[in-house]
Amino acid sequence: MLDSSLDEVWVRALRAGYLGCVRPLLFTMHGGDPEKIHGQLISTLGHLPESLMGVVRWALDRDKDPVELAGIHFPGRVGVAAGLDKDGVAAAAWAPLGFGFAELGTVTAHAQPGNPRPRLFRLIRSRAIINRMGFNNNGAESLAAKLAGAQVARGNNALGCPVGVSIGKTKRIPLEQAVPDYLFSLETLAPYADYLAINVSSPNTPGLRSLQGRRQLEELTGALVSRARELDPHHPLPIFVKLAPDLPIGELDELLGVCEDAGVSGLVATNTTLERGGLAPEDQHLAVQAGGLSGAPLTALALQRVRWIAGHTKLPIMGVGGIMSPNDAQAMFDAGARLVQLYTGFIFEGPALVAGINSLCRPDRLRVTQ
Ligand SMILES: Cc1cc2nc3c(=O)[nH]c(=O)nc-3n(C[C@H](O)[C@H](O)[C@H](O)COP(=O)(O)O)c2cc1C
Repeated sequence: MLDSSLDEVWVRALRAGYLGCVRPLLFTMHGGDPEKIHGQLISTLGHLPESLMGVVRWALDRDKDPVELAGIHFPGRVGVAAGLDKDGVAAAAWAPLGFGFAELGTVTAHAQPGNPRPRLFRLIRSRAIINRMGFNNNGAESLAAKLAGAQVARGNNALGCPVGVSIGKTKRIPLEQAVPDYLFSLETLAPYADYLAINVSSPNTPGLRSLQGRRQLEELTGALVSRARELDPHHPLPIFVKLAPDLPIGELDELLGVCEDAGVSGLVATNTTLERGGLAPEDQHLAVQAGGLSGAPLTALALQRVRWIAGHTKLPIMGVGGIMSPNDAQAMFDAGARLVQLYTGFIFEGPALVAGINSLCRPDRLRVTQ
């Protein structure tokens, strides 16, 4: 249970407003098509007039807990997970909504349409999502142009919080040419991003997860870290690696060594899972859908992975996966995550979850009782 305080009353009111008014509307518009609704939400957030943004900022952008990590100043410890705003359409809205950073993308070197629809399934009773989007995005150059247009430059805090960019492999590029494909995205986005996250863990691009193999990851991280050093020898762009939760512990152990040796700045753990445990009976019929599962059924697995990783490396960790409440976030911090990210929890709980984590996940404020 959370400690009772004015903050908690405020967070409860926000949550009640979201669950009672906003979410029912959000989950039923466009005939309940989750992808169309998502597109509409992101586009609306991207076009909020400055006056309304001021109100949002007043209501939600408060009480953050700053942290320094990989040479970056994060004004708050809860960020937007990759995939929520792939093309940076709503980039200016995330800080006012209370986020301390936003990981845009995943973008690829070449624009691509992603997998055929339907490819996004909401599992309401399970508080989960299954997706097989397949890196639908407008490409690295388009995101770079968008960030440049918003006067974003690495380190200038133009959007009120650091901007990370997740980069992945273009689907039509063969795995053997993955390194130049990722390097193109790095070079294109380096002037604008505060960090890059290398996505080798999405289950929705054929063969992508094989880049988590020891030799492949050595080659990829080595090439990206050294190019970042060439581009800016004094302050190389920090490179994070995002890992799958389904890696066996033995392989994970090996990969931590690869990441440390390559000089990456940190890890993002975890991506979606291929497991299908923890679904409510009402959602079992969707278990057969191909893709990655996120949300509440991932909470325990992601937490367990983060705890294990934190016990086996000094690399800083951004914890992500099934954070559906401030207590889940606190458990991630307790497990060793320095920052957390949200996707599914934000869809199900709204900005109240961000406010709740910001104001309640403090060593001095959160009292977790059994
Ligand atoms: C619809 C959807 C699209 C996603 N797209 C990406 C992506 O492009 N790149 C990536 O690294 N992760 C992507 N993810 C994974 C999330 O960033 C996150 O790692 C995962 O969903 C677990 O967190 P959650 O339980 O808070 O959603 C996506 C997740 C969802 C639900």
